[in-house]
Amino acid sequence: MKITLSVIKADIGGYVGHSDSHPEILEVAREKLKKARLSGLLIDFEVTKCGDDAQLIMTHQQGENNEKIHKLAWDTFISGTELARKLKLYGAGQDLLSDAFSGNVKGMGPGVAEMEIEERKSEPVIVFMADKTSAGAWNLPLYKMFADPFNTIGLVIAPNMHSGFSFEIHDVKEHKKITLNSPEEIYDMLIFIGAPSRYAVKAVYSRDTGDIAAVSSTQRLALIAGRYVGKDDPVCIVRAQGNFPAVGEILEPFTHPTLVEGWMRGSHHGPLMPVSVEDSTPARFDGPPRVTSLGFQLAEGKLVGPRDMFIDKSFDEARHQANLIADYMRKHGPFEPHRLPLEEMEYTTMPQIMDKISGRFEPLEE
Ligand code: F6R
Ligand code: MG
Ligand code: MG
Repeated sequence: MKITLSVIKADIGGYVGHSDSHPEILEVAREKLKKARLSGLLIDFEVTKCGDDAQLIMTHQQGENNEKIHKLAWDTFISGTELARKLKLYGAGQDLLSDAFSGNVKGMGPGVAEMEIEERKSEPVIVFMADKTSAGAWNLPLYKMFADPFNTIGLVIAPNMHSGFSFEIHDVKEHKKITLNSPEEIYDMLIFIGAPSRYAVKAVYSRDTGDIAAVSSTQRLALIAGRYVGKDDPVCIVRAQGNFPAVGEILEPFTHPTLVEGWMRGSHHGPLMPVSVEDSTPARFDGPPRVTSLGFQLAEGKLVGPRDMFIDKSFDEARHQANLIADYMRKHGPFEPHRLPLEEMEYTTMPQIMDKISGRFEPLEE
């Protein structure tokens, strides 16, 4: 049975500031999607949050990039925004960059990750959601899951994973893509995905079967709007078990709180802290960046779950480490490498400041 799993998310208003989502907004979304399930458009759905982002996790049989599904998501975000305006939530409708829907939410602000799959006999999937960071944040974890035998022992000892995975990598600035194969091309691949502000892993495929293993959202809000409008706060779907890494191999990369772009004003490097949905409330210096993960078993498209995977005690140490790293990074204040390099700040206040004082720069006397 062919099923499409669509995760579409947007920040439509923060509570308080950019720290969380208001429960009533999520309730509005649930009501909307309930109607769509009743009408048969959706098989099932789950509405959740990651920090100030509303997350719509939907299953259906309409395929990827489907106009009806994207319109449903758009209309849901519009209804949520109306309530956000009434409650005067912060940045109501922040990620809705267009006034009218035109067939597909891509390029309009919301983040999208979708995969059409032939549902297996048992289909465990993990949906990762992040707040206060950008699309490239998945590069290192996806590399570890699908290419690093020190993380995923299955690459070495499970015959159905031994031929490796291929990585579809997007150049988010030049709008180009390339597919590279692991393991034989990992040195080439790391040149690109090790630079996550420009190159983001869009999807991963099993080389044995060609089946999709993972897909992420790669849109960059600032590149769409031409100015800083918040970080992209990406999502990622990963299939687990069988021909794919085990659930534990998929979660393992997050025991290391990697440094990602985002945090305060989207202009800092900070540790990605794995947390439960409940704890996705970035409040310290608007952070540190968070990642949540919900696990489901699909049953003819029905979302059996969710299980909040990072609630597990074994992630306590990663959270503790993330807090220590946050302290360490914060001590740098406005200095790099805590603050992002200038080229990454080009959509923030940098150009205005340069305009104001550029006349005062004088040539050096050599
Ligand atoms: C980061 C983020 C926040 C805001 C900051 C300033 O992604 O959303 O750190 O950038 O709170 O917000 P404004 O400019 O809306 O006052
Ligand atoms: Mg916000
Ligand atoms: Mg956010």
